[in-house]
Amino acid sequence: MPRIVAPSMLSADFGHLDRDTRTVDRSAAEWIHIDVMDGLFVPNISFGFPVLKAIRRASAKCLDVHLMIVEPERYVERFVEAGADVVTFHFEAARDIPACIDLIRRAGARVGISLKPATPVAVLRDILPLVDMVLIMSVEPGFGGQSFMPASLQKVAELRAMIREQGLATLIEVDGGISAANARALYDAGADILVAGSSVFGAADPEQEISHLLHA
Ligand code: DX5
Ligand code: ZN
Repeated sequence: MPRIVAPSMLSADFGHLDRDTRTVDRSAAEWIHIDVMDGLFVPNISFGFPVLKAIRRASAKCLDVHLMIVEPERYVERFVEAGADVVTFHFEAARDIPACIDLIRRAGARVGISLKPATPVAVLRDILPLVDMVLIMSVEPGFGGQSFMPASLQKVAELRAMIREQGLATLIEVDGGISAANARALYDAGADILVAGSSVFGAADPEQEISHLLHA
C-alpha cells in the first residue's frame, strides 16, 4: 500500500502561508490537505478560493481539498478551477451524492467522500465503486488540535474489508488527531493517507515530523 502524508494547512501560519506551503512542498509529503469550512456544516469558518489559489501557486503537489460545507454540489466545480486535484465532500452534507460525484469528475478532479465519526461505514456500500477515496474523520470536523478518537481504527479496518470484498482500489484517508504515536496503528488498520495538522506545524522541524509520520 502506498503511504501518503497530507499536512493540513489549517494549522499553518496564515501570515506566512507561502513559506509554510513551500516547507511542505520540499518535504516528503505527497499531498497537501486544505480544509474548507462554511460555519454551517461545522461551527467554524476557515478559508476559500483565494487561499486555495495561493497554495496552488506555491506548490505542484496534489492538493487535497476537504469540503466541510453544506450542499457541496454548489461549489465543487469552482474548487477544481481554483486548483484542487482531489475534492472530498461529506456524505452528511450532500443533497444528491451521485450528482456531486459526477460534477467533480467532469470538472477533472478525483473524488473523495467523507464520514463524520458517528456515521457508520456501511452507508457507503453502494457508493464505494463511484469514488476514488474515502475520508474517515477521527475527530468531529471543525477544528484542528483535537484528540484522536480510537474507535476510528475499527472503522478503517471495516472499510478496508469492504473495499477488498468489492474488489476495488479505493484509497482510505484518515483525518484528525494524527501524530507519529498513532500513525502505525492506522497504516496497520488499512489507511493509505494520513492527514496531520498540529503535529506537523507544531513540530520544531515540520519536515522531520512528516518523515516520522511516513515511516512510523
Ligand atoms: C478538522 C480538519 C482537519 C484538521 C486536522 O476538521 O478536517 O484536517 O486540520 O488537524 P489536527 O491534525 O490538528 O487534528
Ligand atoms: Zn480535513
